[in-house]
Amino acid sequence: MKELRVNLCENSYAIYIKKGLFNYIGEEIKKIYNNKKVVIITDENVDKFYGKIIKSNLEKNDFNVYKIVLKPGEKTKSVDELLKIYDKLLDFGVTREDLIITLGGGVIGDLGGFAAATLFRGIHFVQVPTSLLAQIDSSIGGKVAVDLPRGKNLVGSFYHPKAVFIDPNMLKTLEKRFLYDGMAEVIKYGCIRDKKLFNDLLKYNSEEELFNNLEDIIYTCCSIKKEIVEKDEKDTGERMILNFGHTIGHAIEKYFNFEKYTHGEAVALGMYEITKKSEKMGITDKGALQLLKKILVQYQLEYEINLENKEKILEAISLDKKNKGEFMNVVLLKKIGEGFIKEIKREEMINFI
Ligand code: GLY
Repeated sequence: MKELRVNLCENSYAIYIKKGLFNYIGEEIKKIYNNKKVVIITDENVDKFYGKIIKSNLEKNDFNVYKIVLKPGEKTKSVDELLKIYDKLLDFGVTREDLIITLGGGVIGDLGGFAAATLFRGIHFVQVPTSLLAQIDSSIGGKVAVDLPRGKNLVGSFYHPKAVFIDPNMLKTLEKRFLYDGMAEVIKYGCIRDKKLFNDLLKYNSEEELFNNLEDIIYTCCSIKKEIVEKDEKDTGERMILNFGHTIGHAIEKYFNFEKYTHGEAVALGMYEITKKSEKMGITDKGALQLLKKILVQYQLEYEINLENKEKILEAISLDKKNKGEFMNVVLLKKIGEGFIKEIKREEMINFI
């Protein structure tokens, strides 16, 4: 089993990565948690494949298991659903000593994590991420949140799990579109920090080859993220490097009402768009854009979008909670494998779209 430790003083925790891990998750949880009661928070899609087997494995290990199964999709990450979760947890007689297991993608991790962070001012929780995006990004680093009608993730906190258990085999049941959605963030890690990862991804000739290497890929991405989070837990400096492609990506998602593009698909467009401009300006080494295009095409991601209505995109960028004030940060590439944060005046953003 591959293991990483996120070092955050009293909030430190381990990330375990192993194919087939979900088959013996009970044994692993027993090593880090002594009480009896656990509540699994999951969604209908994930429950269909893994709910039964994980519940029975936990029961085999003497846990009393309760399950909350939610509707899949971003709409579930709402305050209304959060209140229902609190109610169910209270119905189950949960106390501060009990454990929540978030079994699902980013929505379940963020929402279940926020419930764990806030009920009784904090219950222990572990993350079992089941989408590629959650396995390499959202389950690590403690960001938990719910959406408000005015925007995504507007109410949230930093609250770290006791552990993260990642089973790459779970990705076999993931809809293909969401596998490639996650690949956009994998590519992002290659772009900002790891040329070898980027080049390895370019070499894989088939989905089978990708799957054969997925455990290592996930380990590499989690290593990069954990190092960044250790240096900037609260996202006030270096952690912003993870936002490569996200400034324009978020705006594209919003512009299309979160209906046309998934998060990863929009990030792919955002990475390409900003690099197109930064290469032209001589900030990014020549050739990076071509490589980016090649890799995005290889992983079934659209790279180009005709941003006819730049004003609307700019408007969406300035509505983002991260882009307030006179200055804002954009993430650019020096070259493939080396990203950096550049502070620009807000009005300069138009040059990067
Ligand atoms: N997903 C970016 C972060 O965790 O900071």
